[in-house]
Amino acid sequence: MTAQELNPGHLLELSGRYWETCTLHAGVKLDVFSIIGNDGLKSQEVAQKINGDKRAVKMLLNALCAMNLLSKKDDTYRNTPTSKAFLIKESPRYVGHIILHHHHLVDSWARLDAAVQSGGPIRTRAVHHEDEKRESFLMGMFNIAMSLAPVLVPKIDLSGRRRLLDLGGGPGTYAIQFCLINPQLTATVYDLPDTRIFAEKTIAQFGLADRIDFMDIDYLKEDIKDVFDVVWLSQILHGERPEDCRKIINKAVSALGSGGMILIHEFILNNTMDGPLFPALFSLNMLLGTPSGQAYSEKQLIDMLSEAGVGDIRRISFASPNDSGIIAGIVR
Ligand SMILES: C[S@@+](CC[C@H](N)C(=O)[O-])C[C@H]1O[C@@H](n2cnc3c(N)ncnc32)[C@H](O)[C@@H]1O
Repeated sequence: MTAQELNPGHLLELSGRYWETCTLHAGVKLDVFSIIGNDGLKSQEVAQKINGDKRAVKMLLNALCAMNLLSKKDDTYRNTPTSKAFLIKESPRYVGHIILHHHHLVDSWARLDAAVQSGGPIRTRAVHHEDEKRESFLMGMFNIAMSLAPVLVPKIDLSGRRRLLDLGGGPGTYAIQFCLINPQLTATVYDLPDTRIFAEKTIAQFGLADRIDFMDIDYLKEDIKDVFDVVWLSQILHGERPEDCRKIINKAVSALGSGGMILIHEFILNNTMDGPLFPALFSLNMLLGTPSGQAYSEKQLIDMLSEAGVGDIRRISFASPNDSGIIAGIVR
């Protein structure tokens, strides 16, 4: 055993890391980065604008400086290049929605021990019914997808394909990206009715309302009536138990004729289910948030596709920050 392995420093650092997480969350929730904006503000001015306690606001701003998310000179606080790019609401690269979504998960993660003992979820899907939480969830998906799509979408050859179904497509980020680089393509986003306003707004922002439409559906309860030649299932299977994943895949396959392409995008575990780290942790996030969702391994996903009559199954590799991966196949 090395001296480093015997040193508890790493464990202590890991155990207390949520202090930094919570400091970031508070900064985003109070929107101090947008308030400070492109110039700079004194702590007193920030306190006034957020209706906060002067002493406490200064403590928060100082901690954000220590985290290199703000800088300070003569009690004037400024955004750093990172916070200007990603934490000011007006920035096209704003990632505050996903940070707020993470914030909404903190209470349940603090009760992970209880979920492990009961085997049941701690959060309810109420997240879909509370406006602020819904917005941070769905637009958080947009934040994540927008950072991934430019590397992922060009890896997928859709030449010759004309109709794409983005099943559980949320705000439609991937349908948008696929249509942007495939001029022959039109798409439909299928999702729950509450998602429609977010999807329509996002699609319109990209000027694609004439090529992408939205259809209300509950993919567990209803069938897919239209016909497509490619179906994209991104980050939906992990919310469901294996039987329901099979049901969804079967519905997707039946919306494709022979030769149709099915693509599954998930945080994919290795076949021993003990890594990589993010998918393993994401599985716990599903334990906390769903009755029987989980991250699936490559083998589990391949078996589900194969049982549904899909052949020519392969992993499309690309570098992704959270070990998400794509498994593609062609309906036999
Ligand atoms: C994690 S998000 C993924 C969004 C998008 N596919 C992406 O990768 O960015 C899961 C999506 O599935 C939708 N969804 C969940 N259950 C559904 C159901 N039973 N029927 C239709 N859509 C559902 C949610 O509303 C949400 O938009």
